[in-house]
Amino acid sequence: MPQILNNTTMQNSSDKLELIATCAFGLEKLVFDEIKKLGLWVIRKEDGRVLFEGTALDIVRANLWLRCADRVQIKMGEFSATTFDELFDQTYALDWGKFIGVADAFPIQATSVKSTLHSEPAIQSIVKKAIVKKLQSEHNTENLPENSGVKYQIIVKSNKDNFTISIDTSGDSLHKRGYRTQANLAPIKETLAAALVMLSDWTPDKTLVDTFCGSGTIAIEAAMIAHNIAPGLSRSFSFQNWSWISQKDIESAYSEARTAAGIKEKLPIYCFDIDPDSLDIAETNAARAGITNLHFKRADFQDLDFSKFENCTFITNPPYGERLEDSESVRELYRNFGDKFTQSRNCSLYIITSDENFPTLFGRPADKNRKLFNGNIRCYLFQYFKSI
Ligand SMILES: C[S@@+](CC[C@H](N)C(=O)[O-])C[C@H]1O[C@@H](n2cnc3c(N)ncnc32)[C@H](O)[C@@H]1O
Repeated sequence: MPQILNNTTMQNSSDKLELIATCAFGLEKLVFDEIKKLGLWVIRKEDGRVLFEGTALDIVRANLWLRCADRVQIKMGEFSATTFDELFDQTYALDWGKFIGVADAFPIQATSVKSTLHSEPAIQSIVKKAIVKKLQSEHNTENLPENSGVKYQIIVKSNKDNFTISIDTSGDSLHKRGYRTQANLAPIKETLAAALVMLSDWTPDKTLVDTFCGSGTIAIEAAMIAHNIAPGLSRSFSFQNWSWISQKDIESAYSEARTAAGIKEKLPIYCFDIDPDSLDIAETNAARAGITNLHFKRADFQDLDFSKFENCTFITNPPYGERLEDSESVRELYRNFGDKFTQSRNCSLYIITSDENFPTLFGRPADKNRKLFNGNIRCYLFQYFKSI
């Protein structure tokens, strides 16, 4: 939808802005490295977010390219507040008219953790009032109809009385690449799947095996990395409707991403699952992602001849048995998987599960272990650098 009235003051698309890439706990270093790889200046990394500097063009590039981040936001301000008056005044002081036009919508979403101001609806209401008052003054009108069809989602986060207020540029979370319209019962987030691949020793000339592939997320993310396909290329973003981000910048970032993709004819990625429906979904998802050269096969991992796996990287997300009735069968599955894996030759294994006792069941302490979150579930990425 076209913007009806455009009178924001963000005229110069080369202005440097302070940006935030949010991410799951444990993925900050990967996101930090991804931002640096885009040639951008990283200010600092904190729990669950990386702060960096960029222009309007960089907002487009970051949304298109970051594989492990959840969102890209414009940081409007950060301050401490313990009263609603302080919250109002400090929100009012920020430069809202620079971005939000007179008829644009600006819904507020607040979360508050361990803070004096703990009522999220009350925080939302005060922040809304402060922004309305500031925009009325900056645009010199009482009338803010919010009917242009353009939306600026305002995110307010309070942690121990420290507020960060930002504008979301992404829209849907970045894990929604657009290829996964169907998933099996327990899919891993695309951002986490990409992270597992990036944390592993896999390179596109090596064989990658996922014995519990489900809807195929790990294999698809690995293939997108191998083909250098920008993860955001097939989806839309909030910034696309913003008048101060020029079509020239948007087109230049998309054109850069399209040119960067280099499809490899052969990709030794093998996906197995016991469930035929999951495999159908995985194949459909891969095709939607433009990946046509993965190898899918229905198999119980116990029936696979692991002695044929040599110099491979296994990256996999087996069942967790979160429900009590499943837990013994999952423990049995982990024991059997340990037995099978010893038959492989010179392979590495990266396996994510919520069961901290996995190494005991598998039969070997992990060479390395990393705590990660799969949604709200605390998980461990157990890493074995070599099968015996
Ligand atoms: C947690 S899900 C994997 C989700 C997957 N990473 C995704 O993104 O959709 C675990 C998968 O293991 C499969 N599975 C369970 N037992 C199996 C077995 N014995 N052999 C092979 N696959 C099995 C299930 O069908 C399920 O798809």
